[in-house]
Amino acid sequence: MYFYRIFLLTAFFMAQSNLQSQVQLDANATNESLYRPNFHFTPKKGWMNDPNGMIFLNGQYHLFYQHYPDATVWGPMHWGHATSKDLVQWDHQPIALYPDSIGMIFSGSAVLDKNNTSGLGRNGVAPLVAIFTQHFMPGEKAGRTDFQNQSIAYSLDQGKTWTKYAGNPVLKTPNLKDFRDPKVIWHGPTQKWIMSLAVANHIEFYSSPNLINWTKESEMGKDLFAHGGVWECPDLLSFDVNGKTIWVLLVSMNPGGPNSGSATQYMLGDFDGHVFKPFTTDIKWMDYGPDNYAGVSFSNLGDRKVLIGWMSNWNYANLVPTEKWRSAMTVPRELSLVKQETHANANINSSQNQNDFLLVSRPVKELEARFTKIISKEKTVAEKEFPLMGAGKILPNRIDLDIVKATDFDIIFSNAYNEKLIVGYDAAKKQYFIDRRNAGVSNFHQGFAAMATAPRFVADAEMDLSVLIDKTSVELFADGGRTVMTALFFPTHPFTNCSLQSKEGISVKTMNLFSFK
Ligand code: FRU
Repeated sequence: MYFYRIFLLTAFFMAQSNLQSQVQLDANATNESLYRPNFHFTPKKGWMNDPNGMIFLNGQYHLFYQHYPDATVWGPMHWGHATSKDLVQWDHQPIALYPDSIGMIFSGSAVLDKNNTSGLGRNGVAPLVAIFTQHFMPGEKAGRTDFQNQSIAYSLDQGKTWTKYAGNPVLKTPNLKDFRDPKVIWHGPTQKWIMSLAVANHIEFYSSPNLINWTKESEMGKDLFAHGGVWECPDLLSFDVNGKTIWVLLVSMNPGGPNSGSATQYMLGDFDGHVFKPFTTDIKWMDYGPDNYAGVSFSNLGDRKVLIGWMSNWNYANLVPTEKWRSAMTVPRELSLVKQETHANANINSSQNQNDFLLVSRPVKELEARFTKIISKEKTVAEKEFPLMGAGKILPNRIDLDIVKATDFDIIFSNAYNEKLIVGYDAAKKQYFIDRRNAGVSNFHQGFAAMATAPRFVADAEMDLSVLIDKTSVELFADGGRTVMTALFFPTHPFTNCSLQSKEGISVKTMNLFSFK
């Protein structure tokens, strides 16, 4: 798989020369001004993939991430680092973890070891402990199977500097080559640390009293759920629903997503500190779009469950046409559970189980607070077309619509170069869609110019949408965040127009347009 990524590098250089010959980019814009997003995190330079070690500490959010600083393609992985006070404005920090003789630094998590169970704290300072996979490339190249092992590092200065534990690795592979992405939580009832680990086609759970000695508890998923690709980046979260604890296990998988390539599925169940017992076995996706992968939640954030995903897809992540850096993160999203409605929807295999919940995602309130309203309208009569633009032709960054009745519609973002991105709804199929078939540069990967679809999970009633649009990404949160879609696009010139169109006419109860400030 990692060799495959190196193969992609060659494809990338071929695609770059192709790009130049076929696509005329805006002569007045730089690649930076055209493609560097306004409100999505990007690395200053170089390559980025999964978010890692996200933790809230003393009023600061820490985002670590898979990073190769020396090129804009995947390579020897480091942990990059950024901090934020509000989840929106991020400050770049020096690289936190560098590869060493045990291997590259792959994905993982971080915890605050409040009680110093690890003994790594000093002088009353509780250590911040990072738990991550080390990937030993020479081992992989030699065809061995013991090249992915789990290591730890600790920080006594709030994540500024890190010391690797002298006894690394702390959890060795039982000779399984896909053995990675540890996500660790504190499990109160058993007073132990629990690690969820992705092991090829299933998740394994390990427990530890001290983050150093790990014992296997159980495994889950070999014959259940989606298996179109390898399982990666698990996250086990507990939600309090009316006094009852419900566990959600996130599992990213590549390829085999609902709209091709990488995507994240989730499972609902019980977890007793040893075994995860799923309530149902139907396949559920956290985000149906092609560009939200490896998302996990922040540690040490109390009851809040805030997730950030990597806004790309392994199908083409190494090939997208940004020059100085590659990849952005999704906006931070607040996760919650809502009861799945009972309804007659042919698209959904709802089991009518009393424990059947949907995982809902919404942009965090900190981000919503950064949008300024530019237009607000109420109770518009049914119309076939109306503009979604601010005064002076300002293109909104966020469009919130309350629609009276689910009707076919297209929200079209376009420019004068015949490029358009469509976010819409197909009432007959009961599907939302994002159509990027003619949204600009796409020749870097066959299959990028596609239309992604997602089911609607509520009965045919009113519909509410929030659409976030940055320079190269769109995020759709529909029906209170029950259906979510994230997709990238790369117009040759910025979109300058946006309108809502509906052949049969659409009644919009309220329409609010916002600009990111
Ligand atoms: C997911 C992933 C992880 C791995 C990391 C390597 O995108 O493949 O499984 O730890 O990326 O960069």
